[in-house]
Amino acid sequence: MGIYDVRFTVHKNLHERKFYGIILNNMSKLKRTHTCGQLRLKDLKSTVVLFGWVSSVRDHGGLIFIDLRDRYGITQVVFSPNKGEEFFKIAGQLRHEYVVVIRGMVSARPPGTTNPDLDTGEIEVYSDTVEILNRSETPPFEVVDEGNVSLELRLKHRYLDLRRPIVQKRLIFRHKICQTIREYLDRLDFVDIETPVLTKSTPEGARDYLVPSRVNLGKFYALPQSPQLFKQILMVAGYDRYFQIVRCFRDEDLRAQRQPEFTQMDMEMSFVDEGDIIQVIEGLMAAIFDKVIGKKITIPFPRISYKEAMTSYGCDAPDLRFGMKIKDVSDIVQKSEFKVFLDTIKSGGQVRGINANGCGSYSRKDIDDLTAFVGQFGAKGLAWFKVEEMGLSSSIAKFFPPEAQQKIQQCMDAKKGDLLLFVADKPKVVSQSLAQLRLHLGHKNKLIDTGAFNFSWVVDFPLFDYNEDLKRYEALHHPFTSPHPDDLSFMEEKPLEVKARAYDLVLNGVELGGGSIRIHTPEVQKRVFRMLGIDDENAYKKFGFLLDALKYGAPPHGGIALGVDRMVTLLLQLDDIREVIAFPKTQKATCLMTDAPSEVDAQQLKELGIRLV
Ligand code: AMO
Ligand code: AMP
Repeated sequence: MGIYDVRFTVHKNLHERKFYGIILNNMSKLKRTHTCGQLRLKDLKSTVVLFGWVSSVRDHGGLIFIDLRDRYGITQVVFSPNKGEEFFKIAGQLRHEYVVVIRGMVSARPPGTTNPDLDTGEIEVYSDTVEILNRSETPPFEVVDEGNVSLELRLKHRYLDLRRPIVQKRLIFRHKICQTIREYLDRLDFVDIETPVLTKSTPEGARDYLVPSRVNLGKFYALPQSPQLFKQILMVAGYDRYFQIVRCFRDEDLRAQRQPEFTQMDMEMSFVDEGDIIQVIEGLMAAIFDKVIGKKITIPFPRISYKEAMTSYGCDAPDLRFGMKIKDVSDIVQKSEFKVFLDTIKSGGQVRGINANGCGSYSRKDIDDLTAFVGQFGAKGLAWFKVEEMGLSSSIAKFFPPEAQQKIQQCMDAKKGDLLLFVADKPKVVSQSLAQLRLHLGHKNKLIDTGAFNFSWVVDFPLFDYNEDLKRYEALHHPFTSPHPDDLSFMEEKPLEVKARAYDLVLNGVELGGGSIRIHTPEVQKRVFRMLGIDDENAYKKFGFLLDALKYGAPPHGGIALGVDRMVTLLLQLDDIREVIAFPKTQKATCLMTDAPSEVDAQQLKELGIRLV
């Protein structure tokens, strides 16, 4: 028997009755010949069978027109009363989202009625047969691209939302990106290996989701925050190049770019340095742009140091699509009499600012709004100067002698018509508030080419960060990141000066991925654990399997993970990662469709030995 194409099967017995309609036929004998996005003028006079959903119904002077939709497109179908009263009566029952099969003949649309917005816009199908396969209640919102439907309603009826053509296109786009990732990495000899979902906690900085074990009462699995330790173990095991498109779970505060479960393109390689990993990822991004978006991008991507990112942009994932760099005027303003600045500097703070080019005409209200804006990020105020012909003007200008004013202008590259904005505070607050202010003004003043894709690598991260609240060192990436070998000699003495062999990929100001060269000896790993307050005994309890594996010939290795949801969101130029996830969770980590999380039976809890308090 040859290959059997179900789309082109013709059922002879159905041709015997010329026109007919059936209401609620739950097993049609008709077979689909085409999709709703397929027919063109070249198909004129063919008899076709289409299955799909009724997208719209219009009654025009005795003829009934419907738009029939499936995931491939929309085809206009026409029902005429000439083809029998019974038949036409059934056509008259069609409503939005009914599932139907129609048979008919492809005709050219009359002149003036073609629709250039539809791929099938030059034809219509004159139906001779219609079967209603299922009815639909009136949907809570129309299944169309446009429309202002609340996210809540969309997520509750996700099956209807996912039926919208624009949402289908996004998920298919995501599929193509994943296909390209697989093809590209397969070509480079990467092996796709699955790692456990029921596992032991790996710290990636968030809380774990825990799963109680019934057969080991009182014990818990953790859902992986990432496959970090498993991929390292796979390197120890000699797999050399691993990848996985894998679900990760993190119980953290959710924002627009975060979900409690999300997908990583995770990879790891042996016998490599930073440059090798970076090169593979640049090639991957180029392949994705080429194959999925049909655009060439320039590689290699520029690299900027963590220090430069923090100094000039106030954050470690800078949006480099526009300038407006942050400048430090702490030294200059020491020559002023402005108490706020002087006091801040005296107590170890700093004064930095940005030049909002051309915003010198902002009103008091505009500036008050900006002050309130930075207030959200902890800034206690926003000092400002307007740059005028004669110099700086502001309510606080009188505290700044002419020489200081001139130096401020120089430092800020100020010219007439500019608005200079400054925050004085602890470095963290200054960075955070100015980073956000810069982005806010960049968007507000349309300085950002929203069609651009600006990639960069942030490199030379510190290995540790000091947590002021908990009074201890933390890993800036994760505890398995290798310190720079030159810095090992002073790790215990000057921990904050130790550089990590880590790199982050940033796209348009969003962290797309992060990775590092790893520690591959138990000695260094234990030293880093100790710095993080994990003594040897505790280290064995938590990560004994890793420390053991490192004892048996662990190769030098490194890798990276890219956030797939974020990548797809950015490439589609959307704002919210929920738009590219089929069944996403809300801000409160709930699923509005299934109502998860939910209570469980008392019996289930009993079996797990759990009592709720
Ligand atoms: P990291 O923790 O930086 O690295 O995660 C890698 C990338 O995953 C994405 N991401 C998220 N996306 C959506 N929702 C979330 N809650 C979320 N959290 C992270 C980001 C991020 O850049 N094991 C290391 C990688 C390595 O070292 O190889 C890791 O997980 O895009
Ligand atoms: P004040 O002396 O409180 O009236 O403030 C004078 C100006 O300095 C106002 O524009 C305030 O917004 C600004 N200002 C106050 N505190 C700070 C600060 N920590 N950083 C920057 N500007 C500030």
